[in-house]
Amino acid sequence: MDKEILNQIDRVDELISSTEKLDGEVLICECFCVNVADIRDVCRPSQAFDLKTVQDKFNLGQGCQGCLKEIDTWVNKIF
Ligand code: FES
Repeated sequence: MDKEILNQIDRVDELISSTEKLDGEVLICECFCVNVADIRDVCRPSQAFDLKTVQDKFNLGQGCQGCLKEIDTWVNKIF
């Protein structure tokens, strides 16, 4: 079997989860209780995540900053 295919099979969970959109109830910022649905609502006009818009509305990331430290794990799963 082709080595590239084997590598992809080995990473299948990662590849599938990387394109999966998050449920609206998933809490992104624990400090300010901001979930995915909140972010989608405020960013709906542009249909794209905008950090400044979300921060202005919800103060996301202005507490412990844990949500911002993990932004790469969730930002592409909002829209
Ligand atoms: S989890 Fe977002 S600021 Fe703490």
